[in-house]
Amino acid sequence: MSESRLPGGFVNAVVRVGDTVRRPVSARTEFVGDLLRLFEASGWSGAPRYLGVDDEGREVLGYLDGHVAWEPRQPAAVSSDESLVTVARLVREFHDLTAGTPSAGDQEVVCHNDLSPKNTVYQPCGGELRPVAFIDWDLAAPGARIHDIAHVCWQYLDLGPSVADVEEVARRMRLIVDSYELSDRGCLVSTILWWQDRCRRGIESRADAGDIAMIRLRNAGVVRRIQAAYQWVSDHRGVLERSVQ
Ligand SMILES: Nc1ncnc2c1ncn2[C@@H]1O[C@H](COP(=O)(O)OP(=O)(O)O)[C@@H](O)[C@H]1O
Ligand SMILES: [Mg+2]
Repeated sequence: MSESRLPGGFVNAVVRVGDTVRRPVSARTEFVGDLLRLFEASGWSGAPRYLGVDDEGREVLGYLDGHVAWEPRQPAAVSSDESLVTVARLVREFHDLTAGTPSAGDQEVVCHNDLSPKNTVYQPCGGELRPVAFIDWDLAAPGARIHDIAHVCWQYLDLGPSVADVEEVARRMRLIVDSYELSDRGCLVSTILWWQDRCRRGIESRADAGDIAMIRLRNAGVVRRIQAAYQWVSDHRGVLERSVQ
């Protein structure tokens, strides 16, 4: 069967073969396989199905039909309030499904750890694109609910110098935490800053160690953009914190 390279990946070479997707295996493949099987067994459709490893040693996942929001310009529906609410509810669903399972270990839940529009599949629903699933689970690991929610705020609101209206973004941040029904919000903004700092350091140290994908990200200006986003969140911390309390 013919293979076609899927666009939008920044790290892995991902190809489509019929109604499957093939990705390189990683040290996380076994963990992710267990997690995706847990979702399937629960009837949760917000992630691809795990179908094993092929003859070439690649992970085989079910192909999810729809629109993946990886390009910089997106239809307005992708960033609408309704889509944000749906993202938050989907995150709540998989967090609740993983709480108390062996996959979560001694942590609250399993976190995806890379939630962003680039890793979200949108499908038309009532004439508008809405999130239906998350892809790219290879950073998933036991963690705290607030870690994924902080990442969602950063990525889906594109927190950083391009924000034109701080109050509006603060309102939408509130919408995310309310839709998720996050109980402990006091450290949300500091968790966003922690994430941004962690991502920047991670890319820098792996690029310094010669990791080709990370060198590509650094050369594309990603480290500089994360630094600017960190500064922006830091500068607007008061407004953002007041909004989510
Ligand atoms: N299960 C899937 N169903 C449909 N498309 C997928 C699936 N997995 C990946 N893709 C496509 O492949 C691209 C790269 O996949 P991704 O897992 O995000 O790789 P990377 O780790 O490089 O970001 C995505 O942007 C998406 O377009
Ligand atoms: Mg991805």
